[in-house]
Amino acid sequence: MIEKNKSASVFARTLDRFKIPLVVSAGVVVVCGAVLAATAPKVSAFAPVDYFQAKCASCHGKYGAMMLKTIVKRSDAQLKQDVQQMAAVHSRAPLSGDRLSAEIAYNRSLKDGKPFVILTSATSSRLAGEMTPGSAVTVKSGATSLKASASGHQWSVSVPKKFDISKAAVTVKNGKGASTIQIAKQAYSHAKG
Ligand code: HEC
Repeated sequence: MIEKNKSASVFARTLDRFKIPLVVSAGVVVVCGAVLAATAPKVSAFAPVDYFQAKCASCHGKYGAMMLKTIVKRSDAQLKQDVQQMAAVHSRAPLSGDRLSAEIAYNRSLKDGKPFVILTSATSSRLAGEMTPGSAVTVKSGATSLKASASGHQWSVSVPKKFDISKAAVTVKNGKGASTIQIAKQAYSHAKG
């Protein structure tokens, strides 16, 4: 009897000790969920540079190297049409909606010469995407600036715990210029002609 009571009260005390942390951590989960939902970064499910290399580079060279002199003569309206028609007719890999817009954006970067950047993956510990090869990518939020590592046309960066992704800006830079995206608002550069 005494034994039983003792273990019951130990159990009650143990519960008591856990009650507060449990309530607090449930609250934190709810708050974090709300913050993430409100400021989720814009992430592109489509990788336009990968697509270009797979579907367009056979005629236009690696990263469009063979069309840099002709693409500058196209108006933005012509460029949109070029990309849509090339994708459907020459590449037999039609694009529409967000995918088409992202591919047009990449082609605009070939026209204006400034480096392109896109976010294709975001977790609380890592950001990754594509960029014009040979350019440097930095991710900045508040006073913290992170240098991304690059491989070909892909960049990625590990994000420290207190880094506020919702306020992050990604900047890509090379000898020809720089482009910046605020990832709460846009997944890629060159969205407008
Ligand atoms: C089978 C070869 C071929 C493929 C594949 C191809 N193109 Fe083209 N592309 C051409 C040719 C030839 C021209 C120029 C003549 C014309 O307008 O048809 C051209 C023109 C263009 C232009 C206009 C600028 C210029 O250099 O004349 C753009 C932009 C373009 N292509 C983008 C793309 C994109 C993006 C893809 C991939 C979705 C793609 N092309 C796939 C052959 C190709």
